Amino acid sequence: MTSSAARAQIGVTGLAVMGSNIARNFAKHGYTVALHNRSVAKTDALLAAHGDDGDFVRTETIAEFVAALEKPRRVLIMVKAGDATDAVIEELAGAMETGDIIIDGGNALYTDTIRREAALRARGLNFVGAGISGGEEGALNGPSIMPGGPAESYESLGPLLESIAAQVDGTPCCTHIGPDGSGHFVKMVHNGIEYADMQLIGEAYHLFRAALDLDPKQIADIFTQWNSGELESYLVEITAEVLNQVDALTGKPLVDVIVDAAEQKGTGRWTVKSALDLGVPVTGIAEAVFARALSGSRGQRAAAVGLAAGELAAKPTDIAQFTEDIRQALYASKVVAYAQGFDQIAAGSAEYGWDLTPGDLATIWRGGCIIRARFLNRIKEAYETDPTLPSLILAPYFRDAIETAIDSWRRVVSTATLLGIPVPAFGSSLSYYDALRAERLPAALTQAQRDFFGAHTYERVDAEGKFHTLWSEDRSEVPAG
Ligand code: 6PG
Repeated sequence: MTSSAARAQIGVTGLAVMGSNIARNFAKHGYTVALHNRSVAKTDALLAAHGDDGDFVRTETIAEFVAALEKPRRVLIMVKAGDATDAVIEELAGAMETGDIIIDGGNALYTDTIRREAALRARGLNFVGAGISGGEEGALNGPSIMPGGPAESYESLGPLLESIAAQVDGTPCCTHIGPDGSGHFVKMVHNGIEYADMQLIGEAYHLFRAALDLDPKQIADIFTQWNSGELESYLVEITAEVLNQVDALTGKPLVDVIVDAAEQKGTGRWTVKSALDLGVPVTGIAEAVFARALSGSRGQRAAAVGLAAGELAAKPTDIAQFTEDIRQALYASKVVAYAQGFDQIAAGSAEYGWDLTPGDLATIWRGGCIIRARFLNRIKEAYETDPTLPSLILAPYFRDAIETAIDSWRRVVSTATLLGIPVPAFGSSLSYYDALRAERLPAALTQAQRDFFGAHTYERVDAEGKFHTLWSEDRSEVPAG
């Protein structure tokens, strides 16, 4: 560690675990990294523990920090999303010059990023909202990075980010996503898919325990096996590790001593709120968010234990068959979750004029991030073959995969229902699929009801225009005025 003026290629402010690990990742890749943290103790702790990782510049004040950077200056902010981000941006912007780049690597709400980008652009600064996925380990060894913001800033910033990102088949898991808030929007939907994927895995696990009476170790072995097939993914892999973990205090499976109330920091909820505004049915993600909320309603749940279950069916006896059914249901539901997430990305892109390329996102999610999975290669191929696919589940590969899975999927949802085991994400994903492929939906009745009580009008299958029926009078139809 040395210090001299204006020689760092990148600065990192906010040196909690994610910030420290990203700073170390840059240093390991040969960049000189200026370090800053509100309390200098964190900077010193990082240098004491990992100063040998590469070339760091220790700074104490924002002025010193900014002065340590070569131009155009590149500063990565890694602080808790929210007010802290605005405070740091304000301080930095006051010390920076036209053309400098501020990157927000936190899980910011994309509408905040749109606002911040516009405000900084007006001051001559480039603002890049970058989604970064991969947790602590990814930050250190190669995350997936989703940078938005002005295309010009990517020219100077892209090579740095691409070199520290995860690489799959020689391709970095980082690309310029699009203007202003698009990087954080895409990261938000990534997290929504992460919620859905985790919920689906949770439902599979619950079925193994409640329908097949398997123990965590046996279930871990199944997940390990699944991880060598089409379900291969980071989340399936870590599920096996989690289920194999034994609690040091009690000797029980660790999963059995953890309180079953899932928390959330907010990105899943944001995804669903945004989907509601955009009118995109992200049912799998929504069920996952609500499932966490229900699990967290501990008082209500305690009061409801013992409520009638009704007459329950017998448990499946063919364990191998039902295990395969669960695997198929998981795969098909996962395809639905991704299809819905990509629909939301397309809708966001249209709403904000971002011109996003879905195939690029599938490409950069293949490594580094929490939802990395083998089948992202298939998603990438599907969008490369047809960038305007109306739905991912219409791509030949996924259409066939669901056709193979459909009988199993139905057996899992119906068996779970008959056994009183909740499967909100499996069930809603199957209903979504059935609704999407239906020739007629009961929405015609909804339209009729709306016209009945509110004269809201409806369209006819055999004529153009809007119609209203005089329901209580002579029942004749009149074109709506
Ligand atoms: C990632 C993760 C990361 C974080 C989630 C957890 O991509 O690296 O998604 O961003 O672990 O935000 O979110 P919850 O606390 O809401 O589960």
